[in-house]
Amino acid sequence: MTPAASLQRLQPDNVPHLLNLAEAVGWRLSPPRVETMVRHAVGFGHVADGRLISSTLCFLYGGALSFVGLVMVHPEWQRQGLGRAVLHHCLTEAGVRGDRAAGAAAEIGVPTALVSTDVGRPLYEASGFVTVAFLCRHVGRPSAGAVGRAQGRLRRTAVQIRPYHDTDLADLLQLDRTVVGGDRSRLYPGFLRSVQRAWVACDLGDGRLQGAAFATEFGREMLVVGPVLAESVEVAAQLVVRLAEGWGGLVRVDVPFEQAAFRKWLASALGLPEVHRSPVMLRGGTSLPGDRTRLFGIMDAALG
Ligand SMILES: CC(C)(COP(=O)(O)OP(=O)(O)OC[C@H]1O[C@@H](n2cnc3c(N)ncnc32)[C@H](O)[C@@H]1OP(=O)(O)O)[C@@H](O)C(=O)NCCC(=O)NCCS
Repeated sequence: MTPAASLQRLQPDNVPHLLNLAEAVGWRLSPPRVETMVRHAVGFGHVADGRLISSTLCFLYGGALSFVGLVMVHPEWQRQGLGRAVLHHCLTEAGVRGDRAAGAAAEIGVPTALVSTDVGRPLYEASGFVTVAFLCRHVGRPSAGAVGRAQGRLRRTAVQIRPYHDTDLADLLQLDRTVVGGDRSRLYPGFLRSVQRAWVACDLGDGRLQGAAFATEFGREMLVVGPVLAESVEVAAQLVVRLAEGWGGLVRVDVPFEQAAFRKWLASALGLPEVHRSPVMLRGGTSLPGDRTRLFGIMDAALG
């Protein structure tokens, strides 16, 4: 590592620098979302000449899961060991070591997951992460006609789709905990402030929460949907249709590979084909926790 760069703990006042760093590596992030991330993560970055040139954030979701996101090194500083250094420092400081303690039989630490880019994969593999799943990015511009037709086909399910209210929070947190297998209750209030569209699905009989889905608007060009939590493909599809209603730009959803029926529906009925596939990597465990059959779209590539 170059002696000119020093590692620092990330604080909320680093948010503008993180956004600049993201822009430099070609990522467009939501400022309020990044602020929530920094407030709830153990985050570190290298600073050189007063400029943030690297970052890694680790989110602690209780003893069953932690998640790593925003691993970035400024292009001018890549391939000099900063990525490896900031990732390892952050994981150590967050206390989520997934390596074996000397002489101990059992693995220690918290299972730690991340969504990898192609360029990040060698670094993660060298750091003990293995690919346990794939995430499929579906992107398209659904026409008003496609949204209407998709909605028409879905009308017969016994759920009511309505806007999310604050009073749904406890049920939402319970559903998210069951699906993801980690506790994101501290993160959610800030996350909810960073979304523009929020819908839930309730049982027509007893009113029980059957699903919830959220979306973030990036200008007028891109609507990023996530998370999508639902009891069934039909409920997930209804929620996504409602989120996409009246939106004129592109829509993106990052869907677990296993949700084949939902992904087929996204591509054929809504006009959102798969455009990219990313590995989901894990260290300190063999499979992701939770009931993943009810996860139809992740919250955010950095948050899981
Ligand atoms: C991925 C990233 C963080 C790596 O940072 P870095 O500082 O360049 O990485 P390091 O110099 O610490 O390299 C660590 C190891 O990663 C691998 N690696 C890093 N960049 C690589 C590349 N472009 N191609 C292949 N392997 C690469 C190598 O194994 C390297 O070890 P080596 O130098 O001994 O060969 C950086 O390229 C980046 O910010 N990319 C854009 C954002 C991104 O995709 N982040 C990952 C999000 S999941």
